[in-house]
Amino acid sequence: MSSQNIYILGIESSCDDTAASVIYNGKILSNVIASQKIHEEYGGVVPELASRAHQQNIVPVVDQALKKAGIAKDQLHAIAFTRGPGLMGSLLVGTSFAKSFAYGLNIPLIDVNHMQAHILAHFIDEKGFNKPSFPFIAMTISGGHTQIVEVKSYFDMTVIGETIDDAVGEAYDKSGKILGLGYPAGPEIDKRAQQGNPKAYHFTKPKVAGLNFSFSGLKTAILYFVQREVKANPNFIEENLNDICASIQYTIIGILIDKLKRATKQTGIKQIAIGGGVSANSGIRQALKDGEQKFGWTTYVPKFEFTTDNAAMIAIVGYLKYLEGDFAEQSITASARLKI
Ligand code: KG4
Ligand code: ZN
Repeated sequence: MSSQNIYILGIESSCDDTAASVIYNGKILSNVIASQKIHEEYGGVVPELASRAHQQNIVPVVDQALKKAGIAKDQLHAIAFTRGPGLMGSLLVGTSFAKSFAYGLNIPLIDVNHMQAHILAHFIDEKGFNKPSFPFIAMTISGGHTQIVEVKSYFDMTVIGETIDDAVGEAYDKSGKILGLGYPAGPEIDKRAQQGNPKAYHFTKPKVAGLNFSFSGLKTAILYFVQREVKANPNFIEENLNDICASIQYTIIGILIDKLKRATKQTGIKQIAIGGGVSANSGIRQALKDGEQKFGWTTYVPKFEFTTDNAAMIAIVGYLKYLEGDFAEQSITASARLKI
């Protein structure tokens, strides 16, 4: 990478986290996130509440990111922002802010694709974390995304598989709801899964062609299973919660690993980099490690703060695009369905 001294501000507001980060060359100086607790009461993100919270958070979050980085705004070389995909009302807040800030400072504006950013987060300089080399397979798994991407270079990426309905994190969260757990349920299911028997109950894996995923059928299967068992024993959930969680986790991780195996066969690429909130899951981490032994994979999991929605990943893409002189016009607009 270049030896220039470049400061870039990254802004992320695509869903329910308002985030800002300053990157100095490839190194993150600050990574500030205001997560919106309000959605917990509703068991999912409420778009209208999200955009309102972004409006309240964006100025203090950016201010804090600059302070933590120890720089003044006129030291910035460019402003990078998430253009999409995401919730339109949420994206608009970050987009408008970034446009006016760049205009006011008279510096370049850089648009970033949120899905590319999840992948390029692997290129943040971070002690103890290796960067993948090209080509590699990226799997982004979170509450909003489930995607397998063939990555040939920083900006040459092809989506080779994705969910046709729910995201994998949603499968966790909706299963959790059926079991009466709080939102988001992924972390608790994961914790309980580690104390349960993964083969206690069997859930059929969906049959989806190629590298695509489907999780909505699994959710329905879990719902019917739980309803049936609770009819026979009203205390079924409480008495068997760890085993139920372990069986759900076993099924979900099995689905992800099956598709990864297929992706490595199809592409001949054995480097796998994962990202998104679900990459915190102990089951997927163990399965990737096993894959290194069993299939000769090399796997990469980024530092946790760069894997859930964050602005550091937007800032690193900003930096990479800055080096290429790839800037946006002031006329650019947010795009809720932006593709890789
Ligand atoms: O990336 P993220 O913070 O936000 C977006 O969805 O964009 O991901 C949140 C998702 C939630 O669905 C949550 O339940 C899931 O990641 N999650 C987990 C774990 N930690 C978070 N799912 C399974 N196991 C975990 N340890
Ligand atoms: Zn995301």
